[in-house]
Amino acid sequence: MKLGATLVLSLAFGSLTALAGKQIKGLSKNAQELFDIAMTYNDDGWDSIRGVTGAGSARATAWYAVGLLARNDGPDVAIARDIIEREIDAQYTVPGNPWYGTYKRTFEEPIPGTLQYPARIYNSYDPNWREFVGTAFIFAIEEYSNLLGKSLVDKMLVSLNHAVLGGLTRVGLDGDNLDLLYTNPALMRAFSTGWLGPTYYGIDMWALSLWSKYSPSDSNLAKYGPLMLSGLWDTMGEYYNSNLKNFAGPYDRTYGNDMTTYMAVIGLYQSCVTGKANAPLPPKLYASKHIDDWAQGHLIALTCDTALKYASSKAKSAMTKFTKPRYLERYIRSSETNDTRRPVTTWIEDWAMLGGESISETDHVRGDQFIPGLIQWSPKKGYISWIAWSQSANWLSGVVGNSSSGQPTLTLSYPNRTIPGTERFTLMTGGLPYVPGSNMTWPGFEGLPGIMLKVTTTGVDAPSTYFSNSVLHE
Ligand SMILES: *[C@@H]1O[C@H](CO)[C@@H](O)[C@H](O)[C@H]1NC(C)=O
Ligand SMILES: *[C@@H]1O[C@H](CO)[C@@H](O)[C@H](O)[C@H]1NC(C)=O
Ligand SMILES: *[C@@H]1O[C@H](CO)[C@@H](O)[C@H](O)[C@H]1NC(C)=O
Ligand SMILES: *[C@@H]1O[C@H](CO)[C@@H](O)[C@H](O)[C@H]1NC(C)=O
Repeated sequence: MKLGATLVLSLAFGSLTALAGKQIKGLSKNAQELFDIAMTYNDDGWDSIRGVTGAGSARATAWYAVGLLARNDGPDVAIARDIIEREIDAQYTVPGNPWYGTYKRTFEEPIPGTLQYPARIYNSYDPNWREFVGTAFIFAIEEYSNLLGKSLVDKMLVSLNHAVLGGLTRVGLDGDNLDLLYTNPALMRAFSTGWLGPTYYGIDMWALSLWSKYSPSDSNLAKYGPLMLSGLWDTMGEYYNSNLKNFAGPYDRTYGNDMTTYMAVIGLYQSCVTGKANAPLPPKLYASKHIDDWAQGHLIALTCDTALKYASSKAKSAMTKFTKPRYLERYIRSSETNDTRRPVTTWIEDWAMLGGESISETDHVRGDQFIPGLIQWSPKKGYISWIAWSQSANWLSGVVGNSSSGQPTLTLSYPNRTIPGTERFTLMTGGLPYVPGSNMTWPGFEGLPGIMLKVTTTGVDAPSTYFSNSVLHE
C-alpha cells in the first residue's frame, strides 16, 4: 500500500488519525475516513490461513469481500472472489428446512437439524443471514460485476434466488414471517414500526439505501426507499441530542444506552454527516464496546453518500447542533392488521433526556434489548450515565410528562396487576463516573452523581440494590 501525502501531512501536524488507505472513487472525505477504519479493523482480523475475518464469522467475511472489491489493491479482488465462492458453498440449498437459503454462520459448522447440531433459530442457524449476506452480494453485483466476472455473478444470482425463496418460505416454518428484502409488508413494517432504537436504525438505513439506489425505478422499493430514508433522518434529527451524542429513549431494541462507549451502526451513517470526531461513536476503535459492528463499517461508507442525499438540512444540522429543549410524543403502530398504537413520550434537555413507552402485548416479554423507560444524563464531560427500566411484564406503561414548565418526570407503572411480572420493577443504572470517596456505593437513585432525582412510589417496597460486573451487551 502506498503511503500518500495525506499521511505525511497528518503526521507533520501531529494527529494520529487512521492510516490513509487507497482513495475509493466517489467517496466523500467522511465516508473515506470510515472506510479506512473499517478496513483496518477487517484487515487486522483477517486470518489468511482459514480465510476468515471477524473471528471466523462467515457474515463478516462476506462483508469484507465487498470492501476488498471496492479497494481493489494487490490481491484484494482474488481474495474477494475466493470468499464469495466459499460463501456460496456454505449456503443451505435444500428446500423445506427453515434454514433453506440462509448462509452458514461459520464455514466449519455442520448442517443444522441433526442430533449433533439440533436446529435452533439464531443459534445453529440464523435466518437473517440470507439478507445480511444477500444484500452484500447485491451490492457487489451492482458495483463490481466487472471484477467478479460473468460466471461468478451467475452463481451469486442463483444463490440470491435461494436466499429470497428461503426468506419467502419463512412463514409458518419458524413462527415468524419477516423478510427484509423484497416484500411490501416488510417495507411497510419497517415504515411503521422499525424506527425506535439506535441499534436497528443503522440496519434500516443500509437496507433503505440499497432500495433507493438499486431497485428497479418503477418498483415500490424505489418509490418508498427515499421517502423512508428522509423520514428516518427527520426522526433521528428530532430524537438526537448532539450535546450528549445519543438518541433519547425509550428503545424498542438496543445493545447499549450510550453510543459514545458502544458502537452502533447508525453512528457510522451520522459520521458521514459530521466526520468521525463529531459522531456518536466511541472515539477509538479498540476503546469501544460492541466493536464487532465495525465489520460492516466499509459497507456503510460505500452507501452513506446515498443515504445522505435524502437527509434534510434540518436533520443534518441536528447531528451537530442542539436546538432547544423539547417534548416529543409519538404513537407507534403495534399491529399490521389494525390501528393499535403504543404511546412514546420523550423529554430532551441539553444535558439530560427521559423517555418512556407503553405496551400491552399478550404473548411475550421482549427481552433485555427492550428499554421501555430510560433516563440519560451527562454527570461530567465525556460521560453519559443512565437508568434503564427492564421489562418484567408484558403490560406496562412508561410516560414522560411534558415538562415545558416544571421538572421533567418519568412515571412507570403496571396498569394491570394480575399480569405476571408486575410484582417488581427492575431498573439498571450504568455509565457512572468514578467518584473518589464514594466507595461507588449508591444508596438509591437520589444519590447518583450529576443529577438530582426525586423518587416517589405507590405500592412499592423499599428497593434492594446490587452490583453486577457482567451486564449483557455492554
Ligand atoms: C390488533 O391486532 C393484534 C395482532 O396484530 C391483536 O393482538 C389485537 O387484539 C388487535 N386489536 C384489536 C383492537 O383488534
Ligand atoms: C408541551 O407544553 C408546551 C407548553 O405548555 C406546549 O406549547 C407544547 O405544545 C406541548 N407539547 C406537546 C407535544 O404536547
Ligand atoms: C388484566 O389482565 C387479565 C389477564 O390478562 C385480564 O383477564 C383482565 O381483563 C385485565 N384487566 C383489565 C382491567 O383489563
Ligand atoms: C466507604 O466505606 C468505608 C468502609 O466501609 C466507610 O467507612 C465509609 O463511610 C464509606 N464512605 C461512603 C461515602 O459511603
